[in-house]
Amino acid sequence: MTMNGSVSPVGFLGLGVMGQPMALNLARTGTPLVVWNRTAARCAPLRDLGADVAETPAEVFARARTVIVMLVDEAAIDAVLRRGTAEFPAFVAGRTLVVTSSITPEYSRALAAEVGAHGGTYVEAPVSGSRIPAEQGALVGMLAGDEAVVEALRPILQPVCRAVVYCGPVGHALLMKFAVNLFLNVMVAGLAEAAHFAGQQGLDLRQFQAVLDAGPMASGVSRLKVAKLVERDFSVQAAVSDALNSARMISETARASGTAAPLIDLTRALLAETVALGAPREDMIAVVRALEARTTAGGEGAPLQQLAEDRSG
Ligand SMILES: NC(=O)c1ccc[n+]([C@@H]2O[C@H](COP(=O)([O-])OP(=O)(O)OC[C@H]3O[C@@H](n4cnc5c(N)ncnc54)[C@H](OP(=O)(O)O)[C@@H]3O)[C@@H](O)[C@H]2O)c1
Repeated sequence: MTMNGSVSPVGFLGLGVMGQPMALNLARTGTPLVVWNRTAARCAPLRDLGADVAETPAEVFARARTVIVMLVDEAAIDAVLRRGTAEFPAFVAGRTLVVTSSITPEYSRALAAEVGAHGGTYVEAPVSGSRIPAEQGALVGMLAGDEAVVEALRPILQPVCRAVVYCGPVGHALLMKFAVNLFLNVMVAGLAEAAHFAGQQGLDLRQFQAVLDAGPMASGVSRLKVAKLVERDFSVQAAVSDALNSARMISETARASGTAAPLIDLTRALLAETVALGAPREDMIAVVRALEARTTAGGEGAPLQQLAEDRSG
């Protein structure tokens, strides 16, 4: 509540591919909102639904006690929060900052400590799901930080998330996202390898699709991706380069903790080979191209791996 008794709005910074549908779902379900986006035109659909549009991030922090952040990366968050300037402490004092971006656990922990040092509260809240689930209010939120604060956020996030799972201290929600993305990346590479194997054995890919879709391994992801394989439709839902970036972070986290994770390492190599083959902005199911290239080159080995690693940095 504000001092005049009205309900204080929720702030929302970042109305991109994910942020705009998330904010729209909040607005549609009656959450009072004050939003800001660097490109002001993206605020228009929010304004149409009755949200207040702020001129600056400072205005959002001045008006909202809880501020959701869905900016693209760490540099954008630092820039918008004016980190390292005198504005940052004034922004975050007495506020709850809910960061839904996909960032590293290390960055998140450091930001949480700084927010706490200036009298604010930090919640790490990465989401699983892409634009369509965001539009449907069907994301899965992984939340970390003070458990009581997370519990208090549940009703606010209800229009955005199909499920909200508390993951423990700051860092653990992002690590949870890594664990879930490990499965996603390996599963998609496995599906591509299975389809490639089927094709190489002379099987009909539509029959392969029919068996897979009817069986116990079918999932929303497998159905989407097997259809793309059959049609050779590599238009992007989740880009190869983004999947490679995710696989790289996961395999580096595994390595740093001495954890055996051979499947994500292999998947990372295949994704890197796909990038080297010139398909970084195709859908991640285009990883089948790397398997085809290996078969053409004579099977087992990883002829393009070093080249691919070199190119992907
Ligand atoms: N897309 C997905 O499927 C997906 C799924 C789960 C999680 N995520 C994660 O969610 C986050 C957002 O993803 P997205 O797909 O929504 O990204 P996006 O469409 O690129 O949107 C990013 C937002 O960040 C803003 N931004 C970028 N650089 C900025 C800067 N220097 N200063 C101020 N604002 C800046 C953009 O503003 P402008 O509008 O002005 O460019 C936009 O509002 C990322 O961390 C991503 O990894 C994405």
